Amino acid sequence: MVTLLAENVYWVGTVDWSLRHFHGHELSTHRGSSYNSYLIKDQKTALVDTVWGPFKDDFLEKVSSLIELSKIDYIVINHSEPDHSGALPALMRHIPQATVIVSKQGEKSVPGHYHQQWNFQPVGNGENISLGNNQLVFLEAPMLHWPDSMFTYLTGPNILMPNDAFGQHYATAFRFNDLVNQQELHQEALKYYANILTPFSKLVLKKIDEVLAMNIPVHMIAPSHGVIWRDNPLQIVTSYQKWAQQEPEQSAVILYDTMWEGTRTMAYAIAEGLAEKGIPHKLFHMAVSDRNDIITEIFKSRAIILGSPTLNKGLLPTMMPILEDIRGLSFQNKIGAAFGTYGWSGESVGIIEEHLNHSNIPLAAEGVKAKWQPDEDALHACRELGKNMAGEISKNEKTPKTTV
Ligand code: FEO
Repeated sequence: MVTLLAENVYWVGTVDWSLRHFHGHELSTHRGSSYNSYLIKDQKTALVDTVWGPFKDDFLEKVSSLIELSKIDYIVINHSEPDHSGALPALMRHIPQATVIVSKQGEKSVPGHYHQQWNFQPVGNGENISLGNNQLVFLEAPMLHWPDSMFTYLTGPNILMPNDAFGQHYATAFRFNDLVNQQELHQEALKYYANILTPFSKLVLKKIDEVLAMNIPVHMIAPSHGVIWRDNPLQIVTSYQKWAQQEPEQSAVILYDTMWEGTRTMAYAIAEGLAEKGIPHKLFHMAVSDRNDIITEIFKSRAIILGSPTLNKGLLPTMMPILEDIRGLSFQNKIGAAFGTYGWSGESVGIIEEHLNHSNIPLAAEGVKAKWQPDEDALHACRELGKNMAGEISKNEKTPKTTV
């Protein structure tokens, strides 16, 4: 079913209720997602973004229910990633004469995906195209989150279509933010930011400042995933400004894997030390936990405490993906520590500490190693590690005890 956003502006996307993994298997999407495309009928007709390829038939049917495909003049591809451009080849088979509007970087990346000689029109920051009564204004947004990303703003109904920015992987029955469960919406918007936009936080702040300085009215923010922000649309901008500051709450996450319960026992002793000092914390056993949910918890927390036994002079393999995420996401304002059991060589704690160093996360407590199973001395050292971390976490008076 298509949805009317404003006079002659329609959502023609697809809700993907069954999506559970995105980017191959990189990102969990427990609540599905949507691929949002917008049709604007004016003297000229424009489509802003398409949908992922497997949903091309549904997409073409929706668009065709509103207009003959041959009447489409412009297709704006804000970002070449296939979840938004995937239906473009099918669409272009019907309308090979249509103009495909792309950012300067998109002029390379869209052909790079499809290897077709379509009628591309690259646009720069602030350029616009008249549709008749209203205009499309293009704002480059490089690295939010690809080099080719741009926002499209529609004058008249004043709708900002920022593609991935302000989106959520959230399949819903209704298209607008005021019609869905607010807690779920917040959780999915935060998870999206933490997992996708964290490394680009400085650019997020810069782009928001730039758009706010333009003083353009924004009546709706219509991203390419999830719901459209029509009720107090700037609330998600305010949330992004806050998240981009990366000021964590006074809390900790303990991430560990274990072979024969020794490292788990150490994790629980560290938790006792944190609890004794009143620091909220969560423990995650990596072998049974969702990596992307953990990233959201890391994003919120001041301290990351990681534990692994030594296996083959290294870590348990389940620890490696999260360490790679911690490095790649470039978290700011974190502190870290390491712990783990060993039998003979005992490299695990040093390896974790090295990963934290490479991630620019300072070590705030001495790591704890326990030979075979932790004895009472080792568990005491773990409780002390927890207490020391608690002391470091509490040092920052500016750090809020909880965040939204
Ligand atoms: Fe960067 Fe939703 O694709």
